[in-house]
Amino acid sequence: MGLTALPGQKVFLHGGDYNPDQWLDRPDILREDLRLMKLAGVNVVSLGIFAWANLEPREGEFTFEWMDQVIESLHANGQQVILATPSGAKPNWLALKYPQVRRCDAQGRREPQQLRHNHCMTSPVYREKVRIINTHLARRYGKNPALVLWHLSNEYSGECYCDLCKEAFRQWLRARYKTVAAMNQAWWAHFWSHTFGGFDEVDAIDPHVNGLALDWKRFTTDQTVDFMRAEIAPLREFSPQVPVTTNMMGTFEGLDYWRFAPALDVISWDSYPLWHSNRSDYEVASDTAFKHDLNRSLKRRPWLLMESTPSNVNWASISRPKKPGVHRLACLQAVAHGADAICYFQWRKGRGSAEKFHGAVVDHVGHEHTRVFGEVAAVGRELAAVKDILGSEVTAKAAVIFDWDNRWAINSSAGCRHSEKNYEATVQRHYHELFRRGVAAEVIESTCDLADYQLVIAPMLYMLKPGVAENLRRFVHDGGTLISTYMTGIANETDLVFTGGWPADGLMELFGVWAQEQDLLWDHQSQTLLAVPDNGLGLTGSYAARHYAEVIYTRGARVLATFEHEFYAGFPALTVNSFGRGKAYYTASRNDDRFHSDFIGGVLSDIKLHGPHGSALPLPDGISVQVRRQEGREFIFVMNFSEIRQEVSVADRPLRLEPWGCEILAVP
Ligand code: GLA
Ligand code: ZN
Repeated sequence: MGLTALPGQKVFLHGGDYNPDQWLDRPDILREDLRLMKLAGVNVVSLGIFAWANLEPREGEFTFEWMDQVIESLHANGQQVILATPSGAKPNWLALKYPQVRRCDAQGRREPQQLRHNHCMTSPVYREKVRIINTHLARRYGKNPALVLWHLSNEYSGECYCDLCKEAFRQWLRARYKTVAAMNQAWWAHFWSHTFGGFDEVDAIDPHVNGLALDWKRFTTDQTVDFMRAEIAPLREFSPQVPVTTNMMGTFEGLDYWRFAPALDVISWDSYPLWHSNRSDYEVASDTAFKHDLNRSLKRRPWLLMESTPSNVNWASISRPKKPGVHRLACLQAVAHGADAICYFQWRKGRGSAEKFHGAVVDHVGHEHTRVFGEVAAVGRELAAVKDILGSEVTAKAAVIFDWDNRWAINSSAGCRHSEKNYEATVQRHYHELFRRGVAAEVIESTCDLADYQLVIAPMLYMLKPGVAENLRRFVHDGGTLISTYMTGIANETDLVFTGGWPADGLMELFGVWAQEQDLLWDHQSQTLLAVPDNGLGLTGSYAARHYAEVIYTRGARVLATFEHEFYAGFPALTVNSFGRGKAYYTASRNDDRFHSDFIGGVLSDIKLHGPHGSALPLPDGISVQVRRQEGREFIFVMNFSEIRQEVSVADRPLRLEPWGCEILAVP
């Protein structure tokens, strides 16, 4: 068997967040949970995520007996345990006695004790209290045979502007820049007389100094990772054999998850696609696939779906329950993209407070005779049946760059189109063309090693961190194919614009173009692209562009399409440049769906990168195909994200897929 998400993992994990601490006065319910878990095929639960107040009801007074009992009965019942550190929600006594553990907002106002996920990451008091409770948990349960994984806190997020955090930021800046002069220079701080006379003059809240705003985001990530590492230390001490994870949030903007990955043993994330909403379910599936692939790429190995809803969520303005069959399909989609665990939020609906109407395996009715319970139990049986897939890997010859620093820089820069910058959507739009052709992809950051790929797509790569331009050049030089767009190669890692022409840092030579001006179109305006005859990619006729159109001049590139209108009519809209053994494409505008399909389809067939259906043609609308491989075997997942029956042929096998159906072909 290949690499599993957890070392020595023998079965797919199936289970979810379990909150017995909300039902301690109901031993009958806790007993019933055990019976129901068996029926649902639940073999793991995440325990204690929000249980701090029940584990330490008063400062220094610990009550672990209930948890001892819960773990013991779960273990006897066949469930393993993912044990959480409880730092995601602080008990009242702690927040009230030590105000410094509560966050301050940008105006310096201290938050009242409320909600959750809102502690200061810097506060020495909070760190110490967390160290104590984590040490108790690790000592008591670190060697417990039921324990398979530590679950660090819950969905780390947010920023704090208290004096402690600001001082930590200044220390972070000192370490990064060494001298104030270097910092002033890196931030272009002489602008508007913002020159800093010393590190102690830096406040964290000036968004107009773009470099500062960017560094504050980086600091927030680093401080969160530092807090997380402090959480890990006692766990490692008492249970070095138990891996650690934290449940992440997909493409959450506030934290750069690439900085988390090295500190974790395994990646897990919480996926809540809104099915049956105002977008097509196929698009929702594509977005979800993108996030699954990002999470797999973080460590390039199988990962865990830590949370998903068996039915609906209660935080979206409208959330419909999954229609019959969609639950199975969504679970198998995660497996297809490399998940070795399917877990839910939540096992049982509570009777009160904010999440009483959030989907759960066990509804308020309390028994197993519900549609949702039935579908969950069926997934449990199916995961047990397909255990051969465990340990198989997803390999990809294509990668899409989705880079947090780049995203932050684009979003915090004023210019020149303030709305619809759409970095994430643009990356996903490009990814979608791979998705609908069954071409497996990794979702990576711009500094990742590119050696394993045939195709790299780097939309809107505005920021070139040190080494990135060279990384792209080497990749193409060695035979790779690179696709880029408008807004490429404009600023350095502190958001200082490159002088001397864009795309900068050696990319002008790579693409063979000079982007001299940007035209920004209003929502009601559009531009048109005209395909050049014999463009070699099969582009035909005209395509519509909106939002962005760059006025580019060739410096050796071949023109494949031109603009029709404006003062740059006849100028290149799409170019390709041969560089070393590879090719670099530059798309100067934000184009319509037909363009994406023809263009990326054309490139894929040019480099003979195909999905398992053996061509670069798109699959029927609604169909997704993904492969996991193991020891010469392939497991091909053929999924139908539509409400109609569909026919498709994959690996020479004609298939008929029911609405929301999924078939797994084992080849050979
Ligand atoms: C997040 C949290 C859970 C729960 C769910 C509800 O993912 O981690 O505790 O609040 O959302 O969807
Ligand atoms: Zn703080």
